[in-house]
Amino acid sequence: MANTKFPLNKNKLWFHNLHSTTSDFASDVLQGLNKRPAAIPPKYFYDARGSQLFDAITKLPEYYQTRTEIAILQDNADEIAHHVGTANLLIEPGGGSCTKVHILLEGLRPVAYVPMDISSQHLQLATEKLATAFPWLEIHATCTDFTHSMVLPPTALENTEGTKVAFFPGSSIGNFDPGSAVEFLTSIAQLVKPEGYLLIGVDLKKDRSILHAAYNDTAGITAQFNLNLLQRINHELDADFELSHWRHKAIYNEQAGRIEMHLVSLRKQRVHIGQKHFDFAAGETIHSENSYKYSTQEFIKLAQQAGFQSIALWVDADNLFSVHLFCVQE
Ligand code: AVI
Repeated sequence: MANTKFPLNKNKLWFHNLHSTTSDFASDVLQGLNKRPAAIPPKYFYDARGSQLFDAITKLPEYYQTRTEIAILQDNADEIAHHVGTANLLIEPGGGSCTKVHILLEGLRPVAYVPMDISSQHLQLATEKLATAFPWLEIHATCTDFTHSMVLPPTALENTEGTKVAFFPGSSIGNFDPGSAVEFLTSIAQLVKPEGYLLIGVDLKKDRSILHAAYNDTAGITAQFNLNLLQRINHELDADFELSHWRHKAIYNEQAGRIEMHLVSLRKQRVHIGQKHFDFAAGETIHSENSYKYSTQEFIKLAQQAGFQSIALWVDADNLFSVHLFCVQE
């Protein structure tokens, strides 16, 4: 496991690499492709190209989530700051591009910000920009797989007195199955307690046609994002996926309350990964992502199981997206 830390500029921006790279990826991919139906965890979408494609998705006309959440945060930044007061430490698991946090920084005025992300290059570029825009802010950028462990990097530990706030926007919580979501939120509660907060963006249940369009955009960016997973396996794990033999599929599974993304094999084929091989029949799928959607009450119940109490809730006028503020229940 890599474990480097170095100040990037003027002692205000630190970079920690707590992430083990190829070995987890290789074993998760091999294990996932041995299952039937095959499945690969969605966290592996985010290599450098995957992160760029995801940024492009957030700007698509069909993908309402990002712009709606940003508008909710902008419209309510003062109210959020009023509820939370001054934060000492602001922690953002998955804060790869550090864009939404800009909206909160002036109001919350944290001493230090800890973005955690699996994509090192993306995190480094984004935090360098952030450091220029907010020279007063200490930034402890942490490259880690936060789905495995949520620990604060050593340089941030000096700031653990005072209020801690976790910020988890973008409905990334929807990419966890509900049981794992409770576990993950429990680890956030442990990190921010005794008096901390969680500000979290959650995509709402809605008409399936809106959801279908958001994950099947006409420009085909979501398809590229999904297929890039196979490209990444080719590059990093010495594999020979032929991308034109696979197709993107995204459907809303209403009963489970989730969008499912799959990669569909367009023919009978054999794929090699290093010394191993995997056979796929035509129509067979690799399940690459779930994106759960929650009503506001469903999500409040889920967060309660993790030890959080609802403080405030904001929803846009079209009922597309929600932002919840929770505090740790004593
Ligand atoms: C990051 N996550 C919340 C996105 C989502 O909507 O579930 C990832 C994504 N997958 C396809 N489009 C966007």
